[in-house]
Amino acid sequence: MSSELLQLAGVNKRFGAQVVLNDVNFAVVPGEIVGLVGPNGSGKTTTINVISGLLQADDGTVDFLGHKINRLPMYKRVHLGINRTFQVPKVFRDMTVRENVEVAARSVRLDPREIEPILEDIGLASVASRVAGSLTVNQQKLLDLGRALATRPKLLLVDEIGAGLNPAELHVIAELLQRLSARGIAMIVVEHLLDFLNRITERVIVLGAGRMLFEGPLASASRDPEVIAAFIGAA
Ligand SMILES: Nc1ncnc2c1ncn2[C@@H]1O[C@H](COP(=O)(O)OP(=O)(O)OP(=O)(O)O)[C@@H](O)[C@H]1O
Ligand SMILES: [Mg+2]
Repeated sequence: MSSELLQLAGVNKRFGAQVVLNDVNFAVVPGEIVGLVGPNGSGKTTTINVISGLLQADDGTVDFLGHKINRLPMYKRVHLGINRTFQVPKVFRDMTVRENVEVAARSVRLDPREIEPILEDIGLASVASRVAGSLTVNQQKLLDLGRALATRPKLLLVDEIGAGLNPAELHVIAELLQRLSARGIAMIVVEHLLDFLNRITERVIVLGAGRMLFEGPLASASRDPEVIAAFIGAA
């Protein structure tokens, strides 16, 4: 039995004639934080979409806990232990913070006593009775994360949670992600903020036009000629 939590092999995704993912192969082990970087339009969010089930891969396999999950709908993948945040946070704006977490918790029949610790974890316990639409973008991103945590993921896919946040807010999120990883939750963190990623990951995957250009430590990625060319070409 392999120790991998997630394994992508030969994953392709096309939109019409455009090849958006081209032979993507990588694995994630339990508790590990993997960074996913690349220029705009390189396929980062699409990678998260094919893992979470929002989209299906055209070719290749997505294995989770040793099961092929390619054709499973999103809610079944949530039940298996995969959940994600969105580049633009998805919260129910007219519901309170607590209700947002409760809706997600109910979908997996989470013990209601586990809601309060999640609100504490994401730092929103003091605003739990406020409607989500009144929160700052930073707070909405944390709530989006809390909604995902309420389904008790083994793998959390985090799409640009740091964008637009100030250094103090980034610090809080970096510490939160590290705490979650220490509890055994694996993460794929899509991010343009490399200092932020450097704090929380030991390994990054670099995509360029849908292809994997590099896999390894971030410091080595920034010296890799193909990676440099992809970023300069995209600038
Ligand atoms: N639903 C869709 N239909 C058609 N094309 C799409 C769709 N979603 C993404 N694309 C295209 O696929 C490519 C990859 O998009 P994707 O959103 O995965 O990039 P990204 O790396 O997340 O970029 P960014 O850093 O801007 O978020 C882009 O060219 C995008 O325009
Ligand atoms: Mg994206």
